[in-house]
Amino acid sequence: MTLTDLKNADTMGDVAAIIRQCRDCPLGESRTNAVPGAGSDQASVLFIGEAPGLKEDQQGVPFVGSAGNLLNTMLDRAGISRENVFITNTIKCRPPNNRDPEQVEIDTCKKYLRSQIAKLNPKLVVTLGRFALEYFFPGERISRVHGAPRQLGDRTYLPLYHPAAALHNPGLRDTLLEDFLTIAKLINPLSVAGGTDSSKSNSVKPRPKQLDLF
Ligand code: URA
Repeated sequence: MTLTDLKNADTMGDVAAIIRQCRDCPLGESRTNAVPGAGSDQASVLFIGEAPGLKEDQQGVPFVGSAGNLLNTMLDRAGISRENVFITNTIKCRPPNNRDPEQVEIDTCKKYLRSQIAKLNPKLVVTLGRFALEYFFPGERISRVHGAPRQLGDRTYLPLYHPAAALHNPGLRDTLLEDFLTIAKLINPLSVAGGTDSSKSNSVKPRPKQLDLF
C-alpha cells in the first residue's frame, strides 16, 4: 500500500480497505485482523481510543471487549447510539500482549487517522485515553484536561479517560460518566444532563434540533 493509494481513497470504506492490507510496521505481521474502525460514515462525532486488544484483533472491530462493554454502557447512559458515531483507534493493529503502542507504530499509523478525520470531517472528536490525547495535544495530561472541551478551528475536542482506566480504577467511573454527559451537552446544548442519576439518562437523548450533528 502506498501513500498514493491513501490519497486516492474517496470514502471511509476505501481507507478501511487500505488499512486492512497495511504491512507498514511489524504489527502488520503479528495481528490477526487490522481494526480500521466502525460506525456511521456520516457521523459528526468521532471517538478515538488507543489500540485494538485481543477481541478487537480477533473480530476486526473496535471496542468489543471489556473496555468496549463499558464504552457501550457510557454511550447508553449519555443517550448516544453507537451506530450514529464513528469509533476508531490511534493505531489500527494490536500490539503484542496489549503493550503500549510504540512511537514508531503511532507515527507509521498517523496517516490513517489523518485520512479518516479528513473524510469524516467530524464536528466533535472525543479522545479516549492518553495516546489519543497526545495525538492532538502533545504534552497534556489526561488527569488535568479530561472533560474540558476545547475548540480548534470549527472542530471541538473533548479529552476523556479511557474506559479501561475506569475498569482498573472503579473510582474513575463516575468521572467518566460525567464526562460522557458532557458529550451529550455538546451535541445538544439544550439538554439537561442528569449527572450520575441514571433515572435522568433519557433527558440527554438527542433532540430533533440537533439531529444535524448526527
Ligand atoms: N481499547 C482501545 O483503545 N481500543 C479498542 O478498540 C479496544 C480497547
